[in-house]
Amino acid sequence: MAARFAFQTVPERIFRQLVRRSTSGLEVLGRSQYVNSVSTEHSRKYRAVVCTELKKPLEVQTLSRPELKPEEGDRVIAVTEGKGMAEECIINQKLLWKVPKEVSYEEAAALPVSYGTGLLALQHRAATQPGEVVLVTAAAGGAGLAAVDIAANVLQAKVIAAAGSDEKCKIAVQKGASSSINYSSSNLKEELKKLTNSQGVDVVFDAVGGEIFKDSLSSLSWEGRIVVVGFAGGAIPSIPANLLLLKNISAMGVYWGRYRNEDFGLFSKSIFTAIQLCKEGKIRPHIGAVYKLHQVNEAFLHVAQRKSIGKVIVSMR
Ligand SMILES: NC(=O)c1ccc[n+]([C@@H]2O[C@H](COP(=O)([O-])OP(=O)(O)OC[C@H]3O[C@@H](n4cnc5c(N)ncnc54)[C@H](OP(=O)(O)O)[C@@H]3O)[C@@H](O)[C@H]2O)c1
Repeated sequence: MAARFAFQTVPERIFRQLVRRSTSGLEVLGRSQYVNSVSTEHSRKYRAVVCTELKKPLEVQTLSRPELKPEEGDRVIAVTEGKGMAEECIINQKLLWKVPKEVSYEEAAALPVSYGTGLLALQHRAATQPGEVVLVTAAAGGAGLAAVDIAANVLQAKVIAAAGSDEKCKIAVQKGASSSINYSSSNLKEELKKLTNSQGVDVVFDAVGGEIFKDSLSSLSWEGRIVVVGFAGGAIPSIPANLLLLKNISAMGVYWGRYRNEDFGLFSKSIFTAIQLCKEGKIRPHIGAVYKLHQVNEAFLHVAQRKSIGKVIVSMR
């Protein structure tokens, strides 16, 4: 009884820390500390302290393992922080996502970083609306082509793809862009003016930086948003604040990997959503090249030489 009263007096905020919602109901976090397991792996059951109602005594219940967790034999994708280029590696199961049969291993490998970033940049950060004009720079790169796919085929935006060659422009248009600009052979700002009848673009997804970023920034429309994704060109640009003021522009960054620590729910959702959209055929990652493990240096060279299109995969098999 003493323990029961002790639990009853635990302040609400501590109860909230103990409990998380899952699709199968309320479940206790930090299971190893609070659960006295009564059964084996085979039965897929475990006992757990559960808070069913705040300020009421905790209950010990026998629960089934959450169905969404991968089981032995499932095809999975993991976020490995660079440790994944190996035939075997140990992963925290929190960082595993199930891959449905409709999605190939190569496609699955191409989804988390690129599509996760695209979703968080365009949907969560820039709040892109259907019909808005979205400019994607480096539009045939891993992140860029994913952004084109999401903007055009999920968010129903009108996409202008900007890339460094005619071949790259063509691939971005095949992926769903309405028009394209080859910024190696033409002036990005001038071409954007023509394509938008001097109205400018509503959203920019920029992974290049330098002059490309500056031209994109000054091509934004009234209340436009520019998302800083990366600096593939090597130069980190600075932003003249007067440009933000004059057209009520917002400049924002996105760093997908950091959501893992700051907002795991959103991070996980970005991966789950990407897998789901791929399963439903709404998006399709472009696999530009597949290298074997022993060809890993060639794979990196291909990317570093700016030759890659979409994602480059290093296959363990
Ligand atoms: N913030 C995030 O969470 C996040 C997530 C993913 C990636 N990123 C960053 O975004 C950038 C692009 O990533 P990615 O995966 O799309 O890379 P990627 O597949 O290698 O594509 C990079 C693209 O950048 C363009 N580029 C322009 N100047 C370049 C140069 N000097 N050297 C190499 N490429 C150049 C190239 O396209 P063109 O030839 O068409 O110009 C190239 O296709 C990287 O800086 C990466 O770190 C950030």
